[in-house]
Amino acid sequence: MERIIILDFGSQVTQVIGRRVRELNVYSEIYPFDKFPFGKGAGGEKTIPDDVKGIILSGSPFSVRDADSPKVNLSELVGKVPVLGICYGAQYIAYNCGGNVEASQTREYGRAELTVSATGDKIFEGVPVKSQVWMSHGDSITKLPDGAELIASTPTVANAAYKIREKNIYAFQYHPEVFHSQFGGKMLGNFVLGICGCKGDWTTESFIEATVAQLKQQLGDDHVILGLSGGVDSSVAAVLINKAIGKNLHCIFVDNGLLRKNEFEDVLAQYKDMGLNVIGVDASERFLAALEGVSDPEGKRKAIGKTFIDVFDSEAQKITNAKWLAQGTIYPDVIESSSVKGPSATIKSHHNVGGLPEKMNLKIVEPLRSLFKDEVRRTGRALGIKRELISRHPFPGPGLGIRVLGEVTREKLRILKEADYIYINEMRKYITDLPAASNGFAAEESGEISLYDAVWQAGTILLPVKSVGVMGDERTYEYTVALRAVVSNDGMTADWVHLPYDFLAKVSNEIINKVKGVNRVCYDISSKPPATIEWE
Ligand code: XMP
Repeated sequence: MERIIILDFGSQVTQVIGRRVRELNVYSEIYPFDKFPFGKGAGGEKTIPDDVKGIILSGSPFSVRDADSPKVNLSELVGKVPVLGICYGAQYIAYNCGGNVEASQTREYGRAELTVSATGDKIFEGVPVKSQVWMSHGDSITKLPDGAELIASTPTVANAAYKIREKNIYAFQYHPEVFHSQFGGKMLGNFVLGICGCKGDWTTESFIEATVAQLKQQLGDDHVILGLSGGVDSSVAAVLINKAIGKNLHCIFVDNGLLRKNEFEDVLAQYKDMGLNVIGVDASERFLAALEGVSDPEGKRKAIGKTFIDVFDSEAQKITNAKWLAQGTIYPDVIESSSVKGPSATIKSHHNVGGLPEKMNLKIVEPLRSLFKDEVRRTGRALGIKRELISRHPFPGPGLGIRVLGEVTREKLRILKEADYIYINEMRKYITDLPAASNGFAAEESGEISLYDAVWQAGTILLPVKSVGVMGDERTYEYTVALRAVVSNDGMTADWVHLPYDFLAKVSNEIINKVKGVNRVCYDISSKPPATIEWE
């Protein structure tokens, strides 16, 4: 296999560089700047592993002139494989190789017109002389490093791109990886496929083939346990491992009573259809009992998380010969937990299976560790998993437990499940011309977009207040449900969706008419931040 290594100096868009390289069908890996995966030479010296075909140095919020800015030893990296510096990366090379970097008068941020002077250079093949690029920097390169040639400029940034021929270094002050750089993808392609000489043969199919072969070797005749959640990651991980070791993979799917209406039965049937060796455990009573009298959101999360571990553990104990615990960890989780800025407080901080591996004393296997979310989806499709399962909205581990605000009771759960069922079903039926959400995978395949595809995540919340209404001649005093629908990329920020009025009208009507206990429906029009996606 061939790899491109991206060294992360902390830029917000480093992951995007990784994505862009993979879109060229070349496998890329992101490492914090000080964790380059060196090999060892015969004399114990650091070497660049043979499969590394090129190195990209990312941008950074730091200035190269700061004393505490992130640093690498360039002599260990350059001259061996081609190197591309982007923004901070470009400045870092200039600053450390005889050039000069100074604070700009004004911070330059936004679109700029790039003029290529080295039109015949490989890096600009297929790129017009003038094109738009995206700039975001406070410092400027005021003197090029030793041996460098200027290859492109903008009206305000003279040294927008340079090259050091004898060291095989290219450097861009702008960000080729972002969408606003018109020919950025082309330039990255020229670097990765042209200059680094990558073949571009890393595809979903080759990933599956290589991973299955590797899992067979790693797991042999061992037995493996995996917790299915109904979500995309655990499902794809299960099918992949099942392909490698068949019935030796034991899947456990727990019904915590907090899943959507019919979800447990439907998804369990789908898992069995896929040929998975799966045990469905109905533990809803245990979860409800654990939630009795608990109304604080964190308290509920803890109660649900603890019960899950207990239930899962006692099921897992029955599989006496298991040596491994499989998990659906994906690449963004891996990068986040080792990022330059340190583990960030993200979605994962409230995952409900934390602590499980330690308790179970099993070895961990994570076949999706190297994939981004959409690559996981594509892998799932290539493995034959149904579209409905693959294009599911995210759903929190504690489920409806955190969407019944306050104490969770059987009756409140019933009301919420019914209302939510109507909302989500109507959403699936409604065809829209809104654009597909970033996880709107179904749309990629069918061309037709339902509201469900246009929304990144949707859910219904049962509020702990009753209000007065009138039905027929009678006064009612019943609950309110809030509908939520957001678009997002990663859940960290989110925008509420402008759902069509006729859709909202229909859903509201259906819920109030059909769900006993609800007389009012609201739509949540708050963005994150300052609100969050969930209400608890
Ligand atoms: P918030 O509410 O923080 O949610 O804006 C961001 C994303 O995380 C999901 N979420 C959770 N997922 N356990 C989970 O597994 C949790 O306790 C939890 N709380 C929120 C939420 O659904 C959204 O996708």
